[in-house]
Amino acid sequence: MNSVGIDAVAIHAGKLKLDLVETFAPAMDEAPEKYTKGLGLHASSFPDVDEDIVTMGANAAHRLMDRKGLEPDDIGRIDVATESAFDNSKPVSTYIAGCLEQVYEGDFHHANKGERKFACISGTQSLDDAYNWIRAGRHRGRAALVIATDTALYARGDAGEATQGAGAVAMLVTEDPNLVELSPEQGFGSADETDFLKPNQQFPSVDGKRSVQVYLARMREALEDYESVAEPTHPDQFRYIPFHTPFPGMVRKAAMLGYRHMIRDSSIEDDLASEIGRQPRIEEFDDEEQFMDAVRDYMDDLKETEAYRGWYEGAIEPTLDIARHVGNWYTGSVHVARASALKRALEDDIDMTNEKLLVGSYGSGAQAEIHTETVREGWTEEIGALDIDDQLAARYDISYEEYEQVHDVHNHDKETDFEAFTTPESEFVLSGRGPMDERVYEYVE
Ligand code: COA
Repeated sequence: MNSVGIDAVAIHAGKLKLDLVETFAPAMDEAPEKYTKGLGLHASSFPDVDEDIVTMGANAAHRLMDRKGLEPDDIGRIDVATESAFDNSKPVSTYIAGCLEQVYEGDFHHANKGERKFACISGTQSLDDAYNWIRAGRHRGRAALVIATDTALYARGDAGEATQGAGAVAMLVTEDPNLVELSPEQGFGSADETDFLKPNQQFPSVDGKRSVQVYLARMREALEDYESVAEPTHPDQFRYIPFHTPFPGMVRKAAMLGYRHMIRDSSIEDDLASEIGRQPRIEEFDDEEQFMDAVRDYMDDLKETEAYRGWYEGAIEPTLDIARHVGNWYTGSVHVARASALKRALEDDIDMTNEKLLVGSYGSGAQAEIHTETVREGWTEEIGALDIDDQLAARYDISYEEYEQVHDVHNHDKETDFEAFTTPESEFVLSGRGPMDERVYEYVE
């Protein structure tokens, strides 16, 4: 069996921009530094009035299929990952297939379609489904279209309003892929948690501080589980480490935890010992509280070392370039992080062929997953075709009053009749409702 992985990727950002520094922070009477320094965010993307998870997913998929010269017959499955679905029965993938059938001659009647739900990790789980389907030899030579699409909106007044966002990532999964090959080895860290949930409600109930702790605990478990089936990890093995990015400040915490874990018992820990001492070991302490205090002190010192700073700048920072300007895309966010890192490598003229990525996905509720990816020769062509910078530059910058309107437009409990802020061109839009209250979409030339 040839290698299996991601052959190509396309990204669609919501067409509106909420500037967190200039617009949101002043309206909230907060310091802009909470966003830029604390959360690591400058802006969030929002869906325009005529956009939703279907149009964003369909527009990303259409761009991907056109660029790769694909027809519906080339696609054997359409897997959509989302935690913003508006229907408890009909999957978003059927709506997206319906959209795409408006612009292609063929149809997707023989493609298996589904929808995955497990908070933000379902994007990666959908990649797994596609990978396993190909490895099982059930794909008849066809590719899988995996689409992670979300509108991450929080109730007005909720602390989560600071970390919103909307967009979609479409990925083509094939044999002998152009972009990255996925490792068969995976590690999981999973437990019954209630850090973030939407029990039959549109906006999340979230314990933000707890979700940070759960993210870190599950990620650590997943890394240990990965090492149990692969090999011990070391910072030098991975050119980039894309993490699930609800906001870059979260990744800063995960990166520190990961680095501390990876350097334990390594020559890096030895080299740093004269500067900051060795990592505290639990067996050296009488109680856990003392041990945790010592760990915190060690991490404070580690954070300031040149070794850590250099590693963070090289392996982590580039994964956050896009997230800083779009916010949280839930299921798509770790896939944005991968694209972001490879885009930076292309801009910096770094040869990534055969380089490794360590990919850390997370979904509240909760589960983390770790696997590695090997970058393939065709990566420059695939990443060079991304048009995300143009999309971000073209976004309509909403005022605070317009933000309030847009939030109401996408609130399922409100009826509004605002006009779209942008003019659609060569894209799918939400055009109305059908007789069963189903959403109706059309392609605008
Ligand atoms: N200068 C620099 N940093 C500042 C600052 C300032 N003026 N003001 C605040 N900060 C820092 C805080 O110290 C904090 O950083 P820390 O966590 O490293 O200490 C960060 O900015 C955020 O400030 P905080 O007061 O904690 O913000 P908040 O109460 O609005 O909550 C979240 C932030 C992230 C917890 C909240 O937005 C949330 O719940 N988001 C949803 C998270 C989510 O989706 N989780 C599920 C998926 S993993």
